[in-house]
Amino acid sequence: MSSPSKNIESVLVESRVFPPDARASTGARIAGMAAYEALCKEAEQDPDGFWTRQARDNMVWTKPFTRTLDESNAPFYKWFDDGELNASANCLDKHIGTPVEHKTAIIFEADDGAVTEITYKDLLARVAQFANALKAQGIQKGDRVIVYMPMTIEGVIAMQACARIGATHSVVFGGFSAKALQERIIDAGAVAVITSNFQMRGGKELPLKAIVDDGIALGGCESIKTVFVHERTLSDWKRVEGRDITFAEALEGQGIDCPPEPVGAEHPLFILYTSGSTGKPKGVQHSTGGYLLWAKLTMDWTFDLRPEDVFWCTADIGWITGHTYVAYGPLAAGATQVVFEGIPTFPNAGRFWQMIEKHKVSIFYTAPTAIRSLIKAAESDEKVHPKNWDLSSLRILGSVGEPINPEAWMWYHRNIGHEKCPIVDTFWQTETGGHVITPLPGATPLVPGSCTLPLPGIAAAIVDETGKDLPNGAGGMLVIKRPWPSMIRTIWNDPERFKKSYFPEEMGGTIYLAGDGAVRSADRGYFRITGRIDDVLNVSGHRLGTMEIESALVAKTDLVAEAAVVGRPDDVSGEAVCAFVVLKRGRPTDAEARQIANELRAWVAKEIGPIAKPKDIRFGDNLPKTRSGKIMRRLLRSIAKGEAITQDTSTLENPAILEQLGQAY
Ligand code: PRX
Repeated sequence: MSSPSKNIESVLVESRVFPPDARASTGARIAGMAAYEALCKEAEQDPDGFWTRQARDNMVWTKPFTRTLDESNAPFYKWFDDGELNASANCLDKHIGTPVEHKTAIIFEADDGAVTEITYKDLLARVAQFANALKAQGIQKGDRVIVYMPMTIEGVIAMQACARIGATHSVVFGGFSAKALQERIIDAGAVAVITSNFQMRGGKELPLKAIVDDGIALGGCESIKTVFVHERTLSDWKRVEGRDITFAEALEGQGIDCPPEPVGAEHPLFILYTSGSTGKPKGVQHSTGGYLLWAKLTMDWTFDLRPEDVFWCTADIGWITGHTYVAYGPLAAGATQVVFEGIPTFPNAGRFWQMIEKHKVSIFYTAPTAIRSLIKAAESDEKVHPKNWDLSSLRILGSVGEPINPEAWMWYHRNIGHEKCPIVDTFWQTETGGHVITPLPGATPLVPGSCTLPLPGIAAAIVDETGKDLPNGAGGMLVIKRPWPSMIRTIWNDPERFKKSYFPEEMGGTIYLAGDGAVRSADRGYFRITGRIDDVLNVSGHRLGTMEIESALVAKTDLVAEAAVVGRPDDVSGEAVCAFVVLKRGRPTDAEARQIANELRAWVAKEIGPIAKPKDIRFGDNLPKTRSGKIMRRLLRSIAKGEAITQDTSTLENPAILEQLGQAY
């Protein structure tokens, strides 16, 4: 339980309100709350008319749609179903012949600071040429292609080229392991992998292609016919003859014209795997039409994008944020954007601020974890404090991926935004495709730590387990009661899991359950997200399933008998992974325990990826269980937090384990 003083503090914090600065509201697309409310009203009263207008105004259709929303097979909703379009054409070709054609599309800054710029026209040529290279290797509309690449122009080109020929991409974050890659290749039935020989991060050269080889060698990946290798560095890599082809080889002789392949609006643009409450990641399937509409619209609504803006979203293309706000949204909106290969702390923790100054970034969008770690760095080293750089180009700041604590919000507001830039705390998920609850920079009065109000057309509500609305001030489950264009379409290969996970029967089967807890403020009805209500953790803005980590631990069959994983709050990463482990050989202590804990961390890194490594590992003779044999997770969470135990532990067979589990390694 939090202390009373903490409660008072958070009440005080929540009462601070920051109305939009004149700089942000003057000339804004949605200027003032009345304009926002008018849009909401329009979307509510005539959803069909509203979405039809948005889809016609914001997208280029090769075949116009005549049906806006088809609810006949709910919750498998279809949007703009009989229309045809191409996502890449809507990001690139549509700008040709407009002032955007010769505008810089991407300012790429490499890990070592080298900068490359590419215009829309040149980006189109490179995407088209790579699309031709994909086709030359036999890749066709409907095929699935894995993209396992670093943050580079080529990473964006790979995704756009897939979209151009109608192939469905599935990007796997470069920090995921060979095993994770193999599982995704198999589930998606992918025919090709697009990768780089190495990636550069923080001055280090890390292998990617070798991990692809290891993943494929694990077996079951016979569907893979081609591995495209972008030679990011000069270092040697091992070629598998007859399967591997370099970018240079694949592009040789390919023309720079490639007509975009029209696809139906519901054609899967991509599958992106994310963690759920079971051990197996879910392949979240997104559409082409509805998804892209949302990517474009939210660039305009949430970021109020203007032609002269320099937009920078720091997310990796391996996550949904890097899909919607790097690979698609900024291009669909004709923005100039920064793409950054490296990490925020290399060569020092002033890197982000230095890059904002250098590229005159006006919209900066990052995760609370990054902000918290840079606050720590700035507080301990004056040299990397943001005051050393000119951040006056900034107009709008954004936050994404996890709740932002009011202290971090205030620091961001003062030290980065100089009290002039609205902070859009955007709540959304892999499944929602784009922002769903967020302030609008020219309209919404801001409250630190609150994602404020839903976008027009998003029927967000807070309900109890039966789907009944709860009043403001009461915490409950976050739901979205009406379909919206960019919502998840299904889980790849698992429509039953889609229905069960997101549209529970107890709530009527057609209401989207987000999986987060939330509460609305009594005064303004503002939403505050209180965290996941399922077994999903949010570590540094990365989504991890506790069951996935448990499965990885027990897969170390020579050592581990049983494992349970819970999260605990962490100052920098938001949440930290804590594992409770029972070994087959008996409980280790001291040096042996430390050594085994490190062995288990290395194992989890190999099974899933370094981001899933448990921060704390605790060993017991057994795990605390109820009489019916269920692990007492609430008790484990208390132990992980170091809290006093208030739960009833009288049923524990072995009370001594409470003391054993008190020690973390
Ligand atoms: O718990 C919520 C948290 O991140 C989860 C979604 O994770 P993912 O699918 O990886 O997408 C992250 C990027 C959109 C949500 O269920 N989350 C995301 N944004 C916020 C947030 N929690 C609080 N405030 C946010 N702004």
